Amino acid sequence: MFELNGKKALVTGSTQGIGFAVAECLARQGADVIVHGSTSLEKCENAAKRIREGGAKGSVAVAVSDLSKPDGAERLYAEVGDVDILVLNASIQYRKKWFEITPEEMEIQLQTNFKSSLRLIQLCEPYMEKNGWGRIVTVGSVQQYKPHRDMAVYASSKAAQMNLVTNLAKQLAPFGITINNLSPGVIATPRNADALADSEYAKQVYAGIPAGYAGKAEDCAGAALLLCSEEGRYITGIDLTVDGGMKL
Ligand SMILES: NC(=O)c1ccc[n+]([C@@H]2O[C@H](COP(=O)([O-])OP(=O)(O)OC[C@H]3O[C@@H](n4cnc5c(N)ncnc54)[C@H](OP(=O)(O)O)[C@@H]3O)[C@@H](O)[C@H]2O)c1
Repeated sequence: MFELNGKKALVTGSTQGIGFAVAECLARQGADVIVHGSTSLEKCENAAKRIREGGAKGSVAVAVSDLSKPDGAERLYAEVGDVDILVLNASIQYRKKWFEITPEEMEIQLQTNFKSSLRLIQLCEPYMEKNGWGRIVTVGSVQQYKPHRDMAVYASSKAAQMNLVTNLAKQLAPFGITINNLSPGVIATPRNADALADSEYAKQVYAGIPAGYAGKAEDCAGAALLLCSEEGRYITGIDLTVDGGMKL
């Protein structure tokens, strides 16, 4: 079960954190994986090396493209080509009071977290439709339900992405394409390492999680694998929260 031999998978933002864990997991299950990062080819190569050494069964390639740029999705697709599995994990979040967020910061977050996701889906879907098989997973956030007061645009971009998933799930199901969202709660990654290193802050955060602790990036990998697999073919349009109960 959960074998991905012969499937080509692009995981955006897979140099580290959740994207890395998902890419590693898909590669172990046999997928040919493309590791993607924003700017540093070296960082992508390092991540790819770790995935190869970690027991990848398929090939591991790399691609660099800044998805905060309007043409970032086109550039990435031009480099990578068609894929069977598209995991849209890259995102940018600014922590700032809602009335202080600048127009430029709004645009960067919306471009990376929402517009580039839609554009990549537009570019990758025709091949999936032609094949009668495709898996698209967007990575959202528990903030769709519990928006952080200092991340208003980030939380909104994830909620918008979820709405898109619901919309497209109905339209793509007849073609054998599923599209689902995976919403992490608090997952310990390089993104929040500094914040969680503050023990007082961490205590407050964990108090809001029924499980009482932060998840690991690997906790998201199995959930993503289910949504990317043949076994997950009858699951579409859902939001799979991986959050230790934080949404509740
Ligand atoms: N960690 C959590 O607690 C948590 C909670 C809820 C939701 N999430 C969501 O889960 C996903 C992964 O989070 P994470 O914590 O693993 O993040 P992370 O450690 O900050 O890693 C982010 C990844 O995205 C890439 N990226 C950032 N900006 C990019 C850009 N402009 N263009 C292309 N790629 C870009 C980075 O590539 P480079 O290294 O090359 O820059 C990196 O690979 C995100 O969608 C995040 O919103 C995380």
